[in-house]
Amino acid sequence: MNTHTKLLEQLRTIVGSANVLTEGDLRAFEQDWRKRETGKSLAVVRPANTPEVAAVVKACAAAAVSIVPQGGNTGMVVGSTPDASGTQVVLSLQRMNQVRALDGANLTVTVDAGCVLQAIQETCEKAGYLFPLSMASEGSCTIGGNLGTNAGGTQVVRYGNTRELCLGLEVVTPQGEIWDGLSGLRKDNTGYDLRHLMIGSEGTLGVITGAIMKLYPLPAAQLTAFAAVPSLEAAVQLLGLAHQHLSAGLTGFEVMGTFALSLVTKHFPQQRVPFQEGDQPYCVVLENSDTESEVHARERFERLLEVAMEQGCVLDAVVAESITQARALWHIRESIPLAQAQEGLNIKHDISIAVSRIPEFVRLTDAQLQSAYPGARLVNYGHLGDGNLHYNVQAPPGADAEAFLRDDEAGVNTIVYDMVDRFNGSISAEHGVGSLKREKLEQHKSPVALHMMRSIKRALDPQNTMNPGRVLSKE
Ligand code: FAD
Ligand code: MLT
Ligand code: ZN
Repeated sequence: MNTHTKLLEQLRTIVGSANVLTEGDLRAFEQDWRKRETGKSLAVVRPANTPEVAAVVKACAAAAVSIVPQGGNTGMVVGSTPDASGTQVVLSLQRMNQVRALDGANLTVTVDAGCVLQAIQETCEKAGYLFPLSMASEGSCTIGGNLGTNAGGTQVVRYGNTRELCLGLEVVTPQGEIWDGLSGLRKDNTGYDLRHLMIGSEGTLGVITGAIMKLYPLPAAQLTAFAAVPSLEAAVQLLGLAHQHLSAGLTGFEVMGTFALSLVTKHFPQQRVPFQEGDQPYCVVLENSDTESEVHARERFERLLEVAMEQGCVLDAVVAESITQARALWHIRESIPLAQAQEGLNIKHDISIAVSRIPEFVRLTDAQLQSAYPGARLVNYGHLGDGNLHYNVQAPPGADAEAFLRDDEAGVNTIVYDMVDRFNGSISAEHGVGSLKREKLEQHKSPVALHMMRSIKRALDPQNTMNPGRVLSKE
């Protein structure tokens, strides 16, 4: 019996035959969300609990077969799907989806890694608590994937990235040992922080099986506004005013270019986008959460918008009158990635720059791109409150998107990333590296940092079986 056949038999014994998928349409596990790549796995294995994960990892390690941890497979950088070799095991955490415990006094929730983000939010809300991590993929992404990528989302300006929300992890190491770090402590200076090493490691250092996450009291009021602004400079000015007026009440600040918004109207005509007819180049969604009454929050929010209009950094604004209206305004912003995907294959960037320098970055980069690729369409939007733009590039109207990517992606990326370097920014703010940006990481990260990263990978995964070729090259 060859090694792979023997391993498949072992895996069936560990998780049951029904949870070792080798046949049929496995595209949901083998193709990335953006349809950039389709791989072929040896099997998709779906364990039910942490001991099963450990046993699967041990069996794979003994057979020298590599593992690709997978949550909701909504990642943007081709990190959660297998390569084309047909020799990798996709380890799907989807069956591990229980909320294990909610501790109101400690303000924490303990969850299986395969819990869908929205399910965690809803469970916590029912219990009277806020779990603030939020993003448009929340109906399918898992907390394990959020931790694996250190995802950002739309509430970072107040609550931080996934990393800031995590107090402890349970991890299966590349050798199949279980590390129980689910302490839930807010203070613990006992040596290297393994939790932070694992967060953002994109499945290359181990499989996250459980996590203990921070909770907050539910806000008494949550208000959303949609504002038209005359320029990116004005959007940055508005952000400064929002910090001043709302302080910690500012929980969301997203910017959207007019072309990005026009894609939403084109592909989802049922959505009503305010100010679509105006000639403002950008709109902003901003959110104010308050622990005091709605009346108080509304007064403060409306005062902010009045001052912003007096100063000329807001042309016009609407404040949602109900939760339904607020959801509709957020839905416009959240629909941009889907609208862009409907428009066709595109070149995505996920960059961060000091907020104050973003307008200059965009002006210079827009000019260079337009001169090198006349007609290329810039789909610019993102988490301006965090200095994080999705500065995306779509083929010129009518052009063949596949050909544009094949011929021009490298050149477009060079222009954008060289400019990011000039501005001392990051080439991946929140999506991670995966295999899509691995070569770019090698070009843009310092040799010292890369050496430290490679040393950590070698020390923890000497056999290189945990998601090899992601983040770092296989060597
Ligand atoms: P997957 O895609 O399955 O995996 C992502 C990476 O994490 C892979 O490298 C994988 O190997 C690793 N991984 C997964 N589970 C584990 C585990 N249990 N242990 C160890 N490693 C693991 N991202 C943002 O940051 N902000 C956004 O605002 C945002 N918005 C999005 C909107 C849309 C419409 C879509 C489609 C995606 C968006 N994303 C966003 C990207 C994506 O949703 C996030 O990266 C998310 O964290 C991925 O979670 P997942 O469960 O789908 O992980
Ligand atoms: C977003 O902010 O909408 C996400 O990061 C997804 C994307 O940019 O496509
Ligand atoms: Zn984003």
